[in-house]
Amino acid sequence: MKIIAGNWKMNGTPSANVTLLEAIKDTVTVGEDKVIVFPPFLSIADAQRILKGTGIAWGAQNVHPAESGAYTGEVSVSMLKETGAEYCLVGHSERRQYFGESGQFLGDKVKALMAAGLIPVFCIGESLAQREQGIVGSVLKEQIASSLVPLADTLTNENFILAYEPVWAIGTGKTATPEDANNTMAEIRGILTELGLPRDLYILYGGSAKPENAKALLSKEHIDGLLIGGASLKADSFGAMVNWKER
Ligand code: PGA
Repeated sequence: MKIIAGNWKMNGTPSANVTLLEAIKDTVTVGEDKVIVFPPFLSIADAQRILKGTGIAWGAQNVHPAESGAYTGEVSVSMLKETGAEYCLVGHSERRQYFGESGQFLGDKVKALMAAGLIPVFCIGESLAQREQGIVGSVLKEQIASSLVPLADTLTNENFILAYEPVWAIGTGKTATPEDANNTMAEIRGILTELGLPRDLYILYGGSAKPENAKALLSKEHIDGLLIGGASLKADSFGAMVNWKER
């Protein structure tokens, strides 16, 4: 099974996203792979209404680890749970970069989600400067270690998903070559083992994934799925990626 996930980021409006959800419902046929969409918070209840029974799952792009209380502007795990969300992104590079989310804070989010039975999709990835300095392995190791080592005993490939998204490939049109992505993901499996985490976690690739490169990426041994930004915002291209085998 592969996992095909669409991260809509801060795009659309509630009405435009209803149209997109309906188009996805009409054009996407779920086969043996898992299909997930991550709309903005304001569209999650619409995702529940429109996608229920289609086999397409939905999730949130962010969550706060506290149960409830004085956290103005935030959304809790129990709020998400009531909308039928089964998944939640954690630690997307845009959250790390623009909102300064620390490894410890991200680990708290993962813990809170897992305690409620939601599946975190935990994102890691290096910047271009870090890649050029040749420190990809140590950057990824630090991102994994600082959030996940305290949870090592609870993570399995059923309750947790990892996403490798090289920051230089996100929204830039530059995709890591399938070979490069596969090699880095093999390295990540080595890091997981070193840190006492399960080696067989699902690992998604993200960063300018599109219909044209989906099959080449997904055919690689260590690439278990795709986390798709821009190309998930049109039902046709998202549907084409869900049908990656036929291309
Ligand atoms: P992109 O975004 O496909 O537009 O590069 C991927 C992501 O950030 O999840």
